[in-house]
Amino acid sequence: MTVVGWTNIGELATADPTAGEGPLGIVRDAAVVAVDGRIAWIGPASEFPDVDVSHDMAGAAMLPGFVDAHMHPVFAGDRAAEFDARMTGTPYSAGGIRTTVAATRAASDEQLMANAARLSSEALRQGTTTIEAKSGYGLTVHDEARSLVAARSVTDETTFLGAHVVPAEYADRPDDYVDLVCGEMLDACAPHARWADVFIERGAFDADQARRILEAAKAKGLGLRVHANQLTQGDGVRLAVELGAASVDHCTHLGDDDIEALAGSGTVATLVPGAEFSTRSTYAPARRLWDAGVTVAIASDCNPGSSYTTSMPLMVALAVREMGLSPAQAVWAATAGGAASLRRDDVGVVAPGRRADLIALDAPSHVHLAYRPGVPLVSGVWRAADRVG
Ligand code: NIG
Ligand code: FE
Repeated sequence: MTVVGWTNIGELATADPTAGEGPLGIVRDAAVVAVDGRIAWIGPASEFPDVDVSHDMAGAAMLPGFVDAHMHPVFAGDRAAEFDARMTGTPYSAGGIRTTVAATRAASDEQLMANAARLSSEALRQGTTTIEAKSGYGLTVHDEARSLVAARSVTDETTFLGAHVVPAEYADRPDDYVDLVCGEMLDACAPHARWADVFIERGAFDADQARRILEAAKAKGLGLRVHANQLTQGDGVRLAVELGAASVDHCTHLGDDDIEALAGSGTVATLVPGAEFSTRSTYAPARRLWDAGVTVAIASDCNPGSSYTTSMPLMVALAVREMGLSPAQAVWAATAGGAASLRRDDVGVVAPGRRADLIALDAPSHVHLAYRPGVPLVSGVWRAADRVG
């Protein structure tokens, strides 16, 4: 049995509103003890017990490791030229995905795994202790299956996204591609995936095609996630809610009926402000969603086209500055919200029984994540009580 403890935590943000002040459940002058990688005790620093390994936090803030519930880390190449053109006026469109598909198909398995490993360790250094990883840049049976094997090498939260865009070779027969995704591709990919996802958008898949794919995936035992309402206000949010998806992601363009549907549902709205930042889009209405009672998560959407960043601290800053969340709400959305999006009850919150995934800030409060944007404030990262960053 190994007992690890952290004491003299100036501000412990538990992300459990029942454990302390505000939506982040803040406890001051706190200590935490973990036994064999799980949190066993939270209490005042003055009652810190004897432990095997002790960390004196000297008044620093601590919070749960970030849970990034939306990443696309399996790809090759980059699209810096596309970004450059976008910054001088060329709009973002779903079609750019095909550039990365060509590079991904040409890459070896080792290159795909190395890219996923590079991005997951980049995320870890910035405090992300749980990630989701999608396929979606292979778009053949073989390339999607090997993309998921690469995703599995960095996380158990793997998502089959064969329905990312219709590949060029199927451009004039998209329904044949949907048949492939629902049939042979799903059969080959399901053993490597926990989730299935569809990009519902003009230029990608419509609601009828998405329904077929999501129902086939559900029948195979996969949980559902959806990319919806990113570029236009379509039917994706309502379809995701109807099918009981765990999460509907982006939610940039929403009507009142979309918000109402989400509010009465078990579907989390996973917002990805990095995509809006990097495509010069308007931002998702996070504050309206939160006030309507929707469970909100924020995630990086790390991908080479619309959001080439792994930084959850940046997502917190954007959610506060651009989306109207308070710092406490934004940090909750990046931790407990991400865990809800992945239907996980073992991460995202500092509470007895949860995995001891903790981060320390070189700052006295979580507020500094938004107040000091762009500054590398994460000074310590522990996963299951092991120091990993
Ligand atoms: O989440 N929207 C679809 N997929 C990604 C973008 C992928 C790309 O542009 O390569 C996203 O933004
Ligand atoms: Fe995405």
